[in-house]
Amino acid sequence: MKKYRVGVVGATGMVGQRFVSLLENHPWFELVVVAASPRSAGKTYAKAVGDRWAMPTPMPQDAAKLIVMDASHVEEVAQKVDFVFCAVDMKKDEIKALEEAYAKAECPVISNNSANRFTDDVPMIVPEINADHAQIIEAQRRRLGTTRGFIAVKSNCSLQSYVPALHPLREEFGLKNVLVCTYQAISGAGKTFETWPEMVDNCIPYIGGEEEKSEQEPRKLWGHIEGDRIVKAASPAITAQCLRIPVSDGHMAAVFMSFEKKPTKEQILERWTAFQGEAQRLQLPSAPKQFLHYFEENDRPQTKLDRNLENGMAVSIGRLREDTQYDYKFVCLSHNTLRGAAGGGVLLAELLAAKGYLD
Ligand SMILES: NC(=O)c1ccc[n+]([C@@H]2O[C@H](COP(=O)([O-])OP(=O)(O)OC[C@H]3O[C@@H](n4cnc5c(N)ncnc54)[C@H](OP(=O)(O)O)[C@@H]3O)[C@@H](O)[C@H]2O)c1
Repeated sequence: MKKYRVGVVGATGMVGQRFVSLLENHPWFELVVVAASPRSAGKTYAKAVGDRWAMPTPMPQDAAKLIVMDASHVEEVAQKVDFVFCAVDMKKDEIKALEEAYAKAECPVISNNSANRFTDDVPMIVPEINADHAQIIEAQRRRLGTTRGFIAVKSNCSLQSYVPALHPLREEFGLKNVLVCTYQAISGAGKTFETWPEMVDNCIPYIGGEEEKSEQEPRKLWGHIEGDRIVKAASPAITAQCLRIPVSDGHMAAVFMSFEKKPTKEQILERWTAFQGEAQRLQLPSAPKQFLHYFEENDRPQTKLDRNLENGMAVSIGRLREDTQYDYKFVCLSHNTLRGAAGGGVLLAELLAAKGYLD
């Protein structure tokens, strides 16, 4: 199989570094371009990142030697690659313009940014949940006037544990109300304890924009295509509270849920264990074999012990029990820069490659 030539836009950042690490030895994708701001452009990747390298593994040697390109030189980058991953820290309207410029240069964009998540004809995909939304790409290409170029996005990291856990229960049992509190790692803000020492021994009860994303994005994931747009699902109603906690990687969520037809505990556990999505059916290279893992132990999942399950691409669930106000409550965990960011992006690109959208 031919390898797709890949660029990472925002390669020097926290998520960009994850992309660079994950692309080392990828069976389908070869990293050929790293791009970032004019501050980094013209330097080797190693020099541009310098002491910001925050990955647990060393910087891949081939990537270290690449000369960082200026991300705003769209045509120049687009010529060298088959598609780009994009994870940049810029204003929303600037990101929208940048991603659209790449798409219009016939370079597909797989984005980690939130700027285009609610654009009607931009699919927001978790491959195990709504792979079929990729079909909207044809409508988007008509709007953009492109033959290859398009934008596809992944959803926010905060919801990558609880939406997968709720998904196999939603239709069958009529998921009605969800209350969720998230406990989110500092890498979600692009930070480490070195760059954010105030977070040691601390908890901050505010993450800008996160609660709205946690409540609204699931409704797009569970939506359906109508003509040239994705229509959001009307239910469930979700209320969210998002806290920043002193953990390097891994977002935990405490979830409460009620149904139209209350399932038994055994039915819930059976649906979780049996769940397989399109990523598993297609055996995509980055797909976890078992997406949802249930832990029987009362003190699991734990962030430090379980965030790297199946290369950080699986979701860990535990403590399912009846609640006094909702039908059930449980906790769940996912790795925010792997499943929740770059890993989810690579998996989405694998899905789109398998379905021919990157050819
Ligand atoms: N961290 C997470 O867990 C996570 C999860 C999901 C989604 N996201 C999203 O992913 C995006 C990146 O997050 P991050 O945590 O990786 O941020 P980050 O560590 O602050 O990195 C930001 C990146 O953007 C680049 N950049 C900044 N200004 C630019 C410009 N004018 N033109 C081109 N590139 C520019 C930076 O390049 P220089 O090094 O040259 O400045 C750097 O590569 C954000 O939209 C974030 O919301 C993050």
